[in-house]
Amino acid sequence: MLQGYKLFTVTHRTTDINQIADFIIEAPDDEVLARKLKKIKDYFGIDELMYLNTCNRILFFMYKPEAIDINAFFFAVNEKLRKMSGSLHQSIEYYEDELAIHHLYEVASSVDSLVVGEREILRQLREAYRKCKTKFEITGDKLRIAMQMTVKSAKMVYGNTRIGEKPVSIVSLAVKKLLQSSPLPESRVLVIGAGQTNLLMSNFLKKYKFQDVVVFNRTLEKAQLLADRFTGNAIALDDLKTYQKGFDIMIICTGSTAKFVDSNLYAQLLQGDTDQKIIVDLSVPSNIDKGVFADHDINYIEIESLKKLAADNLAFRKNEISKVKEILAERVIEFKEVYRQREIERDYSHIPQQIKAVKEKAINVVFKKQLEAVDPNARLLIEEMMAYMEKKCIAVPIKKAKQDQLAD
Ligand SMILES: NC(=O)c1ccc[n+]([C@@H]2O[C@H](COP(=O)([O-])OP(=O)(O)OC[C@H]3O[C@@H](n4cnc5c(N)ncnc54)[C@H](OP(=O)(O)O)[C@@H]3O)[C@@H](O)[C@H]2O)c1
Repeated sequence: MLQGYKLFTVTHRTTDINQIADFIIEAPDDEVLARKLKKIKDYFGIDELMYLNTCNRILFFMYKPEAIDINAFFFAVNEKLRKMSGSLHQSIEYYEDELAIHHLYEVASSVDSLVVGEREILRQLREAYRKCKTKFEITGDKLRIAMQMTVKSAKMVYGNTRIGEKPVSIVSLAVKKLLQSSPLPESRVLVIGAGQTNLLMSNFLKKYKFQDVVVFNRTLEKAQLLADRFTGNAIALDDLKTYQKGFDIMIICTGSTAKFVDSNLYAQLLQGDTDQKIIVDLSVPSNIDKGVFADHDINYIEIESLKKLAADNLAFRKNEISKVKEILAERVIEFKEVYRQREIERDYSHIPQQIKAVKEKAINVVFKKQLEAVDPNARLLIEEMMAYMEKKCIAVPIKKAKQDQLAD
C-alpha cells in the first residue's frame, strides 16, 4: 500500500559517531547543498527527497517506486565512501514502504535517539523538511503527507506517554536541584570556568534573572563573552584568590584536573560569612578539595549523583518505549487510511476542472442566447443554482470512491 517510500539512514547504532561525518553531503552553504541534493535526486530519478543531518544521524527519506542501488547512492553522497564499499551495508539501515514510514515515526518520537525522549530531533526533522520543501524544492505531496502524519504521531507520543519526562542532561538536572533551594535573584553568583557547560548554566542564570554574577576563567576573553550574556563581571581565574566580595552560589566547571578550590581559598572567598552556600560542581574530576566540606556548611550539587539521576531518568524513559511502539503501530495504520484517501483525491483531481468546464460551456455557449433573454434576477438565480450543482457534482464521485475503498 505504501510502496515507493524509502529511507536510508546512518546512525550512532551502526556507525562510530566520528565516522558518521563521511555520510554527510559536504556543502559550505545551502546553495551548494541544494545543488548537490537536486543532482542526486535527478540522477537516481527520485520523485521526492528529504535530507536530515544531525550530530548522530544522517537520514534520507524519499519517494521512488523503483529500486535504488544503495551503494551507488552513497557514492554520490560522498566519493570517499567508495573505499568502504565492501562494508558500507553494515553502516546503512534501509527501510522501504510501510517500514520507512514506521522508522520515520520512531525517529520523530525519539525512541531511536541516543538520548531517548529528547524532543530536539522532532524540531530538527521539521526544519530539515521545511528546507527541502521551501528552499530546495525537492519534496512533493507524498513527503508532505508523510511528514504531516509523522509530526502528528510524534506529538501524540509526547502528549500521551512519559518518554520526554524526567530530565537527563546534567545541566538541566543541576538547575533543577539548584532551584529546589529557592535561590534569590539577588544571590551573589560565582561562575568558575567559561566552557560549554557553564555556557549552558548561564542560560539558567539569565532565565531566572540573577543580577550579581561574576565569571572567572583562565582565558579572560572567554569569561567576558559569558559575562556579557547577563551583564556580569569577568575576572581572570588567577585573581580568584584575591576576590573579596563574597558569594552565595558557586557554579564551577573547568577542564582542570587540579583541586584548586582548597580550604584556604574557600575561606578567603567566604570573607568570614558563615551562612550555608550552594556549590554546583560539574567538573570531572572535581576542582574542590574534600577538606572544604569538612569545615563548612555547603549544599553540594555534584556530578556523580546527577549522573546517577540522569541514568535513572533515562531508564524510566526507556520503559515508555513499548507504549510508544503501540501508539506508532496504530498511527501507521491511520497513515495508510489517510494515504488511501489522498490517492483518491489525486486520482480525481481532474474532476473539478472538468465539471467547471461543463458549467462554463453551458453558460457561455450552449444556453448563451436563452440566458441573454432572461431578466438579470433570474439569470443570477440560474448562475447560483449552477454553482451549487457544480460543487455537489464534484463531491459525489470522490465520496463514492472513498466509500468503495472502505468497503474493500
Ligand atoms: N560527564 C558529563 O556528563 C559532563 C557534563 C558536564 C561537564 N562535564 C565536565 O566539565 C568539564 C568542562 O566541560 P566543558 O564542556 O565546559 O568544557 P570546555 O567547553 O572545553 O571548557 C573547558 C573550561 O575549562 C577551562 N579549563 C580547562 N583546563 C583548565 C585548567 N587546566 N585550568 C583552569 N581552567 C581550565 C577552560 O578555560 P579556557 O577558556 O581558558 O580554555 C574552559 O573554561 C570537563 O571536566 C567535563 O568532563 C562532564
